[in-house]
Amino acid sequence: MERFDALIKKDGSGRLTIVEIPFDAKAVFSKPKGTIYVSGTINGIGYRSKLLSRGGGRFVMVLDKTVQKSVGFDGQAMAAEITMSCEDMDAVREKPEKLVDIMSDMDVLTAIKTRRSIREFTSKPVSQDMVNAILFAGMQAPTAKDKRPYHFIVIRDRHVLSILARNNPNAAMMEESAGAIIVCGDKNIEGIKEFLYADCAAATQNMLLSIHGLGLGGVWCGVASNSDWRKLLIHQLALPPKLEPISVIAFGWSAGIKESVCRWETAKIHYEKW
Ligand SMILES: Cc1cc2nc3c(=O)[nH]c(=O)nc-3n(C[C@H](O)[C@H](O)[C@H](O)COP(=O)(O)O)c2cc1C
Repeated sequence: MERFDALIKKDGSGRLTIVEIPFDAKAVFSKPKGTIYVSGTINGIGYRSKLLSRGGGRFVMVLDKTVQKSVGFDGQAMAAEITMSCEDMDAVREKPEKLVDIMSDMDVLTAIKTRRSIREFTSKPVSQDMVNAILFAGMQAPTAKDKRPYHFIVIRDRHVLSILARNNPNAAMMEESAGAIIVCGDKNIEGIKEFLYADCAAATQNMLLSIHGLGLGGVWCGVASNSDWRKLLIHQLALPPKLEPISVIAFGWSAGIKESVCRWETAKIHYEKW
């Protein structure tokens, strides 16, 4: 990881807000070709970005509006302490080897049609390979500008599951579930609240469908803003201020079979106009 002091400022055109990188990023990050994706902190605030080459080994990093706002840039040149690591996108995107072995025989439409919320579980444990497959499905979800602003906190600890279950009657099933995945949104990565929630909801649904496709059961537990449960999640999981807990997925082996329901309503469909 590189650490340096730099100025956040407008570029010559006045359109872009940039940081000049005080080293040859290609050489330092051993990236002779291709886009250099970076992440780190600016005055302690997390960011993710890419570097633009200005020729001759010189690079700048462009800061989008969200990052500018988070670090308090108001248009005037501002000193910043920066940490920067190169994100090797090939490595980031590399699948854990075992994932390729985990398949579902269920086709996608059948999974969508037959998925139900499961709130009763057996005590059978769920393998880590399955959990990885579920997390992988979450990360495959679409996100605005492909920012992928989510973090997934996997909880297997029975004591923690129990604390969370006992403090929210709507999440009581966590007392029995094999585990839970807390889907958190990074407000520094996605500053538009609606997109942050939409991105995390898409990831949540992908995970619920994969849970069902793997033969497991799961349920989405909502996290209401300003609820005591949200505060408890923040405290219990030691979430930093940038992370918003958005949904909780309790999962495990289902204790029973739940019939699918057909929710088709012709009256909800409109063509061309309302
Ligand atoms: C945003 C959201 C929040 C939810 N919160 C809870 C919850 O706190 N507890 C719960 O048992 N189910 C919760 N659910 C699950 C719904 O109750 C469930 O999806 C709905 O009743 C339809 O049933 P089905 O999932 O079996 O098709 C939630 C679902 C969504 C989308």
